[in-house]
Amino acid sequence: MDKVRAAKMGEKMGVKDTADKIKTARAAKHTMKERSRAWMSKSGTRYIGGAVATVVVAVLYRYYMQLPPDLSAVQLKAAEDNYLIGNTYFEQGEISQAILHYRTAVITNPKHADCWTNLGNALSSAMHYHPDHRDTLYVEGTKAYQQALDANPKHVEANFNMGVLHHTLDDIPKAITSYERAIELDPNHYDALSNLGSARHKQQDLDGAIDAYQNAIELVTPMSPVQVEQTQISMLYYLLGAALSALPSHRCKNASCAEYAAQKLRMALRFNPNNEEAKHALSALVADPSITTASNAYIKSLFDEYAATFDKALVEGLNYSAPQKLFDVVTELSDKRKIKTFQTVLDVGCGTGLCGPLFKNMSDTLVGVDLSSEMVEYARLRGVYDELLVEEITESFARYSDTENKTLFRSVGLIVAADVFVYSGELEGVFKSSAQALKKGGWFAMTLERLFRNETAEAEATEKSVADKAASEKDTAKKEVVIKSDEDIEAGGAGDGLRAQEFNVSDSDLEKGWKLQLSGRFAHTEKYVTDLATASGFKVLYHEHFIPRKDQGLDIPGQLLVLELTK
Ligand SMILES: C[S@@+](CC[C@H](N)C(=O)[O-])C[C@H]1O[C@@H](n2cnc3c(N)ncnc32)[C@H](O)[C@@H]1O
Repeated sequence: MDKVRAAKMGEKMGVKDTADKIKTARAAKHTMKERSRAWMSKSGTRYIGGAVATVVVAVLYRYYMQLPPDLSAVQLKAAEDNYLIGNTYFEQGEISQAILHYRTAVITNPKHADCWTNLGNALSSAMHYHPDHRDTLYVEGTKAYQQALDANPKHVEANFNMGVLHHTLDDIPKAITSYERAIELDPNHYDALSNLGSARHKQQDLDGAIDAYQNAIELVTPMSPVQVEQTQISMLYYLLGAALSALPSHRCKNASCAEYAAQKLRMALRFNPNNEEAKHALSALVADPSITTASNAYIKSLFDEYAATFDKALVEGLNYSAPQKLFDVVTELSDKRKIKTFQTVLDVGCGTGLCGPLFKNMSDTLVGVDLSSEMVEYARLRGVYDELLVEEITESFARYSDTENKTLFRSVGLIVAADVFVYSGELEGVFKSSAQALKKGGWFAMTLERLFRNETAEAEATEKSVADKAASEKDTAKKEVVIKSDEDIEAGGAGDGLRAQEFNVSDSDLEKGWKLQLSGRFAHTEKYVTDLATASGFKVLYHEHFIPRKDQGLDIPGQLLVLELTK
């Protein structure tokens, strides 16, 4: 970049010293590669004026189509300068300016594959901050990556980032194709491998996911040049463990898949002792009797991460019906009693607020409570809650049972808990404290997963397991999964007490009344909840079995209860 041109760029960008401008632009070029890293890792970006950028983009695009193909050295240089300025703007979070400069660069030099790629990255980045223009930006982003690939089909980052964009928009088959192309071109592309694992995992291609996760892990050995944060390696081991625990146990070579899963989850904890998902999954796998509820840290980390995709994943992907079903039942019961509204309605574990719009009209005051601040932010966007609190459910109950607080004390008429107590085993504390927050005659409506001995499912699972084993012996495509070991599996360690089948409900599970399942969620027996309700001062107004959602293609057995406080 010559000094004159650099000075001009400096004026535009408000950088005073010429050396600084060049340095900034070059540094930005370097950073762009970093910015396009893994989908798995969250990148903090800011949004500015995406709508304006989109309009400008359209105008410039038409203009560029009329330009002659032969470029002079001056034009090439101008394109390069605009590209570098774009990088600096992008780095500074000035996304619309970055888009403008990238567009100007590719008008002059439509063969600039790096520039098209960064344009795609900038458009994808704008998408996060401007959900209203998500679809347009998605289309523009994929077009930009496609232009990069037309200019250079072997452009690894264009393939990879195209995959990230499809992955973000949940077009998993296209994401997989793009990641696979990136890996074909660069077999040591850590981010593409780990993202490929996660995309295949999402499609329930467990063998494929395990393969990709293992290949990614191999790249992050101590001697490897790939620099990845310990927390990311931990997440990768966690995902590998999760995929292994979902495989039928006999599918792994030399040891059971469940044993390997436990080993990988331990590795996850070795890289990050605070990986709450790994801790919880390991407890579920080895049925740790000390786990009576999911930790607050686990719930927070799980749902903060899940918040942005929760509604789509659950409602569209898993046929989630708990809020609507609860509303229908409560409406029917309150109509019968001629109840029009409840004084305070507490939506505990409100999440993104799916219950809010349904219960709004039957609440004098609607309060949402949740441990996950990210989920609460989505609930706030619905504009139906009078108050939203980021706290643990029993803390809220305590506020309404505080005799000192004359306004709030026992002012709750209805508590709604949709799919919340699946994160708690023992419910004694919750039931007891809810009874102190509710007014006499108040209702507690909840959905839970149901624990019962399903002999048919058990038999089917055993039969399926025998059939799977026989099939896998015949089917060469479903060979044994070879797990690359990080450590020797401890003899008699994780294997003891492992539950290979979800349907294995023991007598002691039934006696206890609840069980932590491999899914990481708790299920409760009908007897446990109804006995506990009675012991806590409630009468069971309503109880029904229903299917609140699907998981891994299976219907999850659930139950819905409405309790009435009798004292
Ligand atoms: C599966 S989501 C259900 C959200 C919402 N009720 C719905 O039906 O869409 C479970 C929610 O409960 C919250 N949660 C679980 N246990 C909690 C607790 N002890 N205190 C507060 N929030 C909790 C989670 O953070 C999560 O947002």
